[in-house]
Amino acid sequence: MWMINICACFLTTWHFQLFLLTLSPKDVNGETHKDFYIAFLRDHPVDEKLTHLKHRDMLSNLKASELDAKESLVYSYTKSFNAFAAKLSADEARKLSSLDGVLHVFRNQYHKLHTTRSWDFIGLPTTAKRNLKLESNIIVGLFDTGITPQSESFEDHGLDQPPAKWKGTCVHFANFSGCNKKLIGATYFKLDRSPDPYDTLSPIDVDGHGTHTSSTLAGSFVPDANLFGLARGTARGAVPSARIAVYKVCWASSGCADMDILAAFEAAIHDGVDVISISIGGFSGDYTSDAIAVGSFHATIKGIITVASAGNDGPSLGSVANHAPWLITVAASGIDRDFRSKIVLGSGQSVYGVGVNTFESKAQLYPLLSGIDAAKNSESKDSSRFCDEESLDPEKVKGKILFCELGSWGADSVVKGLGGIGTIIQSDFYLDTPQIYMAPSTMVNSTTGEAVTHYINSTRLPSANIHRSEEVKIRAPFVGSFSSRGPNPGTKHLLKPDIAAPGIDILASYTPLKSLTGLEGDTLFSMFTFMSGTSMACPHVAGAAAYVRSFHPEWSPAAVRSAIITTATPMSCMEEKHAEFAYGAGQVNPTRAISPGLIYDMDSLSYIQFLCNEGYNSSTFSSLIGPDSINCSKLLPTQSQDGLNYPTMQLSLKSDKEPTTGIFRRRVTNVGPPKCTYNASITAPKGVQIRVKPMSLCFSHVSQRRRFKILVKAKPMPGTPILSASITWKAPGRVVRSPIVIYNPMALSL
Ligand SMILES: *[C@@H]1O[C@H](CO)[C@@H](O)[C@H](O)[C@H]1NC(C)=O
Ligand SMILES: *[C@@H]1O[C@H](CO)[C@@H](O)[C@H](O)[C@H]1NC(C)=O
Ligand SMILES: *[C@@H]1O[C@H](CO)[C@@H](O)[C@H](O)[C@H]1NC(C)=O
Ligand SMILES: *[C@@H]1O[C@H](CO)[C@@H](O)[C@H](O)[C@H]1NC(C)=O
Ligand SMILES: *[C@@H]1O[C@H](CO)[C@@H](O)[C@H](O)[C@H]1NC(C)=O
Ligand SMILES: *[C@@H]1O[C@H](CO)[C@@H](O)[C@H](O)[C@H]1NC(C)=O
Repeated sequence: MWMINICACFLTTWHFQLFLLTLSPKDVNGETHKDFYIAFLRDHPVDEKLTHLKHRDMLSNLKASELDAKESLVYSYTKSFNAFAAKLSADEARKLSSLDGVLHVFRNQYHKLHTTRSWDFIGLPTTAKRNLKLESNIIVGLFDTGITPQSESFEDHGLDQPPAKWKGTCVHFANFSGCNKKLIGATYFKLDRSPDPYDTLSPIDVDGHGTHTSSTLAGSFVPDANLFGLARGTARGAVPSARIAVYKVCWASSGCADMDILAAFEAAIHDGVDVISISIGGFSGDYTSDAIAVGSFHATIKGIITVASAGNDGPSLGSVANHAPWLITVAASGIDRDFRSKIVLGSGQSVYGVGVNTFESKAQLYPLLSGIDAAKNSESKDSSRFCDEESLDPEKVKGKILFCELGSWGADSVVKGLGGIGTIIQSDFYLDTPQIYMAPSTMVNSTTGEAVTHYINSTRLPSANIHRSEEVKIRAPFVGSFSSRGPNPGTKHLLKPDIAAPGIDILASYTPLKSLTGLEGDTLFSMFTFMSGTSMACPHVAGAAAYVRSFHPEWSPAAVRSAIITTATPMSCMEEKHAEFAYGAGQVNPTRAISPGLIYDMDSLSYIQFLCNEGYNSSTFSSLIGPDSINCSKLLPTQSQDGLNYPTMQLSLKSDKEPTTGIFRRRVTNVGPPKCTYNASITAPKGVQIRVKPMSLCFSHVSQRRRFKILVKAKPMPGTPILSASITWKAPGRVVRSPIVIYNPMALSL
């Protein structure tokens, strides 16, 4: 079971309710502790076999025998980069990194995992303009828990043979019915080879997460999709004609290992995918020792776009993951649909809770009891408030509706397991993220909770009933409280997340191999279900990227990202106090992203320049660029704040006493009408002065480039953590907007 740590102190674990695979490594106990390490080598890989032999050779320097060397080598990466994964002691790893020809060694870590309506909500209706011929040539790759091949979302009606560029495979696997013209690739990586009793060595999805993300990205049209009648509508992906390739790298017991993710990158690059979607947690450390950052860099060089989830560690500041400049980092927003349940109290009063409760209520009242009063004994009252299983007296719970405070997820399962009827859960967190319940349940805020407690106290025989959830329309978009926030812990020069996309209660395909909640005693199964998390937001943006690609196949990953960022629908800092740190440029808007007017393009050298700017040098970023030696001091100093041609700007204040100035140099390429004049329009809050030179950009042909410079001068702003400004290039019919974030690290409580 995946456990996700969240920051709210008393909430320790929750049962996989927010979706971003986040897994921790199992302890490995041996006489000498051994871990998996990944080593990057100097020489370019030549022949696959030869390279593999060289890897073994290299290991024999560390090992007692040839056999030891052979056994410790678990994988040779020979396609995009020359590297291997091996099982080593810390000592051996140190020795390995000092060997001639070894560039960089890092320890393998285990990452955690992090609808119908959502596409209409962000403005990609079924009737949207499509480039079907090119769309069916797009291959999207998902690194996830696998897929459910028999799901209706992956039927291939109307599709031709896979595009000729496809070099991947889909062989026969255990309990896996195989591929078709929609699902064209399926494979798995489990290099640690440890048995997993809860999973199957096959691309089959026993979890549901991979099935869900794949169908959100590129699922076919499925009419009348719903969860027990809720959210009924036609389910579809962003690009229903695109092809899907699945790389299973996340396993039920162990999570998603760096070495498996790296192997998947190598395979996907070789196979010919166009867009990679990764709803897996990243590490916020350096960009050269994390498989998602390293692998996606290699993908970017080959023109492949990688989209990743920002993480579910919000609302803490500085919690954003997968924040490398070559990734598109996605936050989760809510759409305008919520699910509410009416709670009728014995007094006749009605209150409302949130959550997906699919159970029809019988029109009668049940006895209502507070968790405190259902304690086994007086010592267990402290935990029975939260309806912890061990603390409750089953005799008292039987036949009743319980009122509990949110401790860990699954109180509904506990109460049902003890013979209870239902559960009213009180919480001040996660009310914006309705959960699915396996028994009649709903979640109320503390104001409502107090009213319920008050009622319980005021009568001798309290009673209540929880009704089936109804869809209600709410104000949207807003950013999910769980969605990870900036500022970017990897660099103060780059705004992350980049963009927000729907990630709350998204309806998409699911696996028949798991109950809806995955909790003990849950007997509810469905081919479609709701999931929430930045994991669900990520495939929305990967889908938007594939959609843009289907109109502009020649655009670089940076160009596609720029189009997505500068056309986003701005969100309001009035309603979201973390502003851009929560939503980046705003809500993704796929139909606008296909005609952005101008793009901020970049090649891979720009990223190297950025890394040099950040203090990396050729020996530290060798896992990214390999042996090509780059002398950072020879790369022209850019005199720019960030050294990147990024479509957003971020300035970190240096002092609470002196003003801070920043210079951003940018270059835009005309991809709109050939003859066109764009004028700059600036918004700046009080205390911030922004000037643009020149104020007007004149183009006479397509692909023409123009440079400009932005000067930002910010007064000290003690106590103010973040201010939002923007620069927008406007021409008739085109709006190219870039947020400029000014933040004060001294005022952030990280
Ligand atoms: C395949 O599925 C069957 C029945 O669903 C199950 O009994 C069997 O263990 C599965 N095989 C594997 C290799 O998972
Ligand atoms: C608590 O929930 C009720 C009912 O949904 C709502 O009217 C009220 O505004 C909420 N209170 C707070 C403080 O959010
Ligand atoms: C209800 O009664 C309990 C004690 O039985 C008390 O601790 C609590 O404050 C009361 N709550 C309300 C809202 O009256
Ligand atoms: C590169 O950086 C590392 C760590 O900052 C440092 O130890 C090393 O000496 C540097 N190498 C060069 C060639 O500057
Ligand atoms: C990098 O370039 C600088 C300036 O041109 C030079 O002084 C230095 O020796 C070079 N370093 C390496 C490792 O080549
Ligand atoms: C841009 O600015 C120029 C000069 O200020 C003005 O003449 C022109 O109408 C503006 N164009 C647009 C599209 O606003």
